[in-house]
Amino acid sequence: MARVLGIIGGGQLGMMLAEAAARMPDQVSGVVVLDPGDGCPAALAGARQIRAAYDDGEAIMRLASECDIITYEIESGDPGHLEAASRRAEVQPPPGTLRTIQDKLLQKEFLRERRIPVPEFEGVDPADVGGTAGRLGLPMVVKARRGGYDGRGNYMVRSEDDARAALEYFGDRPLLAERRVKFDAEISVIAARGAGGTASYAPVENIHGDGILRTTIAPARIPPGVAESAGRLAGDVMGALEGSGVFGIEMFVEGGDVMVNEIAPRVHNSGHHTLQSCATSQFEQHLRAVLGMDLGPTDLLCDAVMQNILGPAGFEGPYGPPPDPGDGVHIKMYGKAESRPSRKLGHATLVGDGTGALLERSRSLDLAVRPC
Ligand SMILES: Nc1ncnc2c1ncn2[C@@H]1O[C@H](COP(=O)(O)OP(=O)(O)OP(=O)(O)O)[C@@H](O)[C@H]1O
Ligand SMILES: [Mg+2]
Repeated sequence: MARVLGIIGGGQLGMMLAEAAARMPDQVSGVVVLDPGDGCPAALAGARQIRAAYDDGEAIMRLASECDIITYEIESGDPGHLEAASRRAEVQPPPGTLRTIQDKLLQKEFLRERRIPVPEFEGVDPADVGGTAGRLGLPMVVKARRGGYDGRGNYMVRSEDDARAALEYFGDRPLLAERRVKFDAEISVIAARGAGGTASYAPVENIHGDGILRTTIAPARIPPGVAESAGRLAGDVMGALEGSGVFGIEMFVEGGDVMVNEIAPRVHNSGHHTLQSCATSQFEQHLRAVLGMDLGPTDLLCDAVMQNILGPAGFEGPYGPPPDPGDGVHIKMYGKAESRPSRKLGHATLVGDGTGALLERSRSLDLAVRPC
């Protein structure tokens, strides 16, 4: 029997989940999202919206009473409220998994206890930030334990002055600090757990600018041995985490070593290319997983390059899409009413043969939105 799916968050990830759900009418009869924004992207894709904050307990209970299964597209749901909601609707991944992941310090401790490699880190005591710098060395990256995204909760500390400025910047938010990794590449693995076991996609390479994802290259341009290590590491992470769904596992490659940067308990920006390059998109895979279905095949059927379309610097307001790029480029806009600097407004995916040529073509595209 088809079930109603609830999603905490109705941004672009919720939008693409709702679109995948619409293609599975025998399994999903409706989608309800909880999102505070006016006309959120998922609502534009046909989801019903409960307009409330992600951690609004009453609204989460209402969502639970209207849905059979609750999942998330952001980490900001309140695990306590979700635990209460799980008496009315199934919650996947389970609130305990969200609780561990949404706090970057708890997440890293969880991984370290299970011998999964992560950069050296520690919780920051503001009274002893100098001690932390001494132990981790400079530069180090100071991060908000909760609520950071697109690099906005991170501060690169290169000196004692920076350390003081970072403490001022974060105010009373709890912090952790990590050794600055001089990575050769950033990669990620999209992995899923469904009824019959786990499956993962090929590692992809991610290029960030100012802490925000710009470009994903599939497959990652890394030696086969490194790709194998990444796949094994993703398997170890999935072995440690409980619950069904898709997980985005971000990693650093440093020398021949692969370590985990962070895990997202949800579909991930670096998996958007699967819409065009794989038989099962990450969005369909997530639905299959949380609905208890068998997972779909994850083979990469062609090479792909994905470019995020970000709001330009120095402009806030209504905008038009980039010009039509022509054949072979799939543009997906998220329907957000207003542009803001670095806001994710859409993405473009190029598929074909050879990541080098795709990357070159993607760089020659005009993907700038037009203020209007
Ligand atoms: N320890 C580190 N050493 C070097 N670079 C780092 C480190 N931690 C983070 N970064 C850089 O900053 C980026 C964003 O960091 P992180 O993934 O922790 O933040 P986030 O805001 O949760 O990310 P997002 O929402 O974009 O996934 C990373 O992809 C990487 O480029
Ligand atoms: Mg990240």
